[in-house]
Amino acid sequence: DIPVITIDGPTASGKGTLADEVARALGYWVLDSGALYRATGLAASRAGVDLDDGAAVAAVAAGLDLHFEDGRAFLDEEDISDALRQEATGLMASRVAVHLPVRAALHQLQLDFRRLPGLVADGRDMGTAIFPAAPLKVFLSASAATRAERRYKQLISKGIPANIEDLRADLEARDARDKGRSASPLQAAPDAFTLDNSAQTIEESRDLVLAWWQERGPF
Ligand code: CDP
Repeated sequence: DIPVITIDGPTASGKGTLADEVARALGYWVLDSGALYRATGLAASRAGVDLDDGAAVAAVAAGLDLHFEDGRAFLDEEDISDALRQEATGLMASRVAVHLPVRAALHQLQLDFRRLPGLVADGRDMGTAIFPAAPLKVFLSASAATRAERRYKQLISKGIPANIEDLRADLEARDARDKGRSASPLQAAPDAFTLDNSAQTIEESRDLVLAWWQERGPF
């Protein structure tokens, strides 16, 4: 059995950073499941597919020619890493993610990321739908204000202009859609450890997750 740690939570809660840090400490692989929804939204919109048409978007998801190499993402051999990180792409992702057929089309692809010595998977439904038997599930939370501020700093540091009020409105809209949808809504698994990292450094959060992992192991 390949050990899996799941990290779920709302947008800009720091899931990706925490997943990377935990994976680095353990020498594990990472699944950034949001990237799959982002790539699906991007590919569908480029193909002129209506993002509200679940069956049509699912067909795009099922036919994705996507691969990851050295931390970069490639769609049909084109490096789409920068396009994936854009806010507009995040919004597309959250629109296509409401469709059950789209989620079903990406299910096996996510399972295929399991490789020895282990996997850290981040997303919305890693602990509830994709890896329900994972021995450690973390549900991250942070206030909307903290998350908006983090997203703002992240964008500014990359030289991308941003407005904190717009970002907050944007992330609250995305949270509402993620929690309100019927297909795999964003919610903590019953056996998840909840971690509010609003007042924590990334090292503190990482060490806490590593300590929980050690308590459950050895793996
Ligand atoms: O970085 P951020 O948290 O903003 O976004 P992300 O994790 O890349 O996810 C983008 C969108 O994809 C989310 O708003 C969700 O609607 C969707 N998503 C999902 O439905 N299920 C997942 N496992 C991961 C992402």
